[in-house]
Amino acid sequence: MKFKTWVCGSLAVAALIAGCGGGGGEGLDANGRPIGEGTDPSGPMTASFSSIQSHVFTPVCTACHAGASAPRGLRLDAANSYAMLVGVASGGVPALKRVAPGDADNSYLIHKLEGHQAVGARMPLGGPYLDAQTIALIRQWISNGAQQ
Ligand code: HEC
Repeated sequence: MKFKTWVCGSLAVAALIAGCGGGGGEGLDANGRPIGEGTDPSGPMTASFSSIQSHVFTPVCTACHAGASAPRGLRLDAANSYAMLVGVASGGVPALKRVAPGDADNSYLIHKLEGHQAVGARMPLGGPYLDAQTIALIRQWISNGAQQ
């Protein structure tokens, strides 16, 4: 009886460890930096707007979200992204701001990055999607007040 409990406990631990394998998300390295892009001279991504811009918006999102034909009019290049995100109603769900300072749960940007948006698809469209650590930093930036 005692022995059986020990075996089952050990197997459960082994299964957990096996299930914990793997590294960061696809397309991003352990620091949430897109592979092959030396985008931020200041190092690993942090929860600041400039870091999010250089690690995510510029290298990943401007493939689509730039210029006059940007989807939903949302330009995510460095010159436009802040003004088009923070405090601005989303096109998909106008009742929700794209970024509501201090309220990551009700920021449409987060819904789109986590894939539980009411309208359209998860971002970046077609993937690979941002890893959990990168999304957590963007959430933290919003929770901290979404400063520029
Ligand atoms: C391959 C093209 C493509 C890429 C790359 C892409 N998007 Fe999008 N995005 C779209 C399209 C098309 C829409 C409009 C349809 C929809 O809402 O799903 C959209 C819509 C959005 C919206 C909704 C805007 C609104 O007002 O309703 C947000 C927010 C968004 N994208 C953020 C991002 C972010 C952040 C990234 C980078 C991490 C990104 N997108 C990368 C194509 C793209």
